[in-house]
Amino acid sequence: MARETESMIADKLVAYPVWDRTTRWFHWINLLCVLCLTVLGLAILNAKSLGVSADGKILLKTLHSYAGYAFAVNLFWRVVWSFLGNKYARWSAILPLGAGYTGELRQYIRGIIGGNTPKYRGHNPLGRLMVSLLFVVLLTQAATGLVLAGTDLYQPPFGGAIADWVTKGDPDKLANLKPGSKDYVDAAAYDEMRSFRKPIISTHLYAFYLLMVAVLLHITGVVVTEVREKNALISAMFSGEKVFTDTSENDTTT
Ligand code: HEM
Repeated sequence: MARETESMIADKLVAYPVWDRTTRWFHWINLLCVLCLTVLGLAILNAKSLGVSADGKILLKTLHSYAGYAFAVNLFWRVVWSFLGNKYARWSAILPLGAGYTGELRQYIRGIIGGNTPKYRGHNPLGRLMVSLLFVVLLTQAATGLVLAGTDLYQPPFGGAIADWVTKGDPDKLANLKPGSKDYVDAAAYDEMRSFRKPIISTHLYAFYLLMVAVLLHITGVVVTEVREKNALISAMFSGEKVFTDTSENDTTT
């Protein structure tokens, strides 16, 4: 009898391919990079209290920026993929824009309160807000981080221009210039560069705090949705497939 019931339920379950391979790879590579960047970023931030030497801090920044390049390339590829990927990977399924979005959001929130939440194959309207916030913060980290790799380490893509700036193009100074040292810089140009850097490091730091809050919200949202809707949302980021009980589920992107 129990077996019969199980097979009746199984008959009604339909698995839909939702997250394509590129989206899934992006997600897990991004998670690893953000973890790594967070640990190294916290070490840079607390270098003094951890007793890290000046050279040690440069090493931490260098490792952080290498992880940052992997993160930035992965994020850049995801942005490109949002024009090429399947319909659930595209901007139209992510951004909280478009005719009807506000109505869908209201209906979704009413559904949560009333206990009959509409089901979505891709991101639900709240999920679209969450993922958009994550993209904005991640892109901010990538853009400010790439500039800081130039101002602090003279690394690409802007390091060459910044090295020229702080040495005023003097070939002798350029040849001896070292991150973290003021020995071979033009003092006035270096101060100018540091003033230019100030709002960028502040943005990088506040976006980091915002990212930590957004990640917590994201994980909470995913777990709550998984428990309430039972669509295999979490395993779908491995398998690509979400599970529904019939074929008439809402599809935001058709
Ligand atoms: C999610 C991505 C990222 C997170 C969470 C993150 C986090 C942090 C944190 C917490 C700091 C310390 C801030 C401070 O000292 O005030 C930092 C510094 C830094 N980050 Fe990132 N970062 C990210 C991406 C990147 C990227 C993509 C790059 C470059 C490729 C980068 C390059 C740097 C550099 C050079 C510093 C040293 C600046 C300094 O403190 O003097 N970051 N990052």
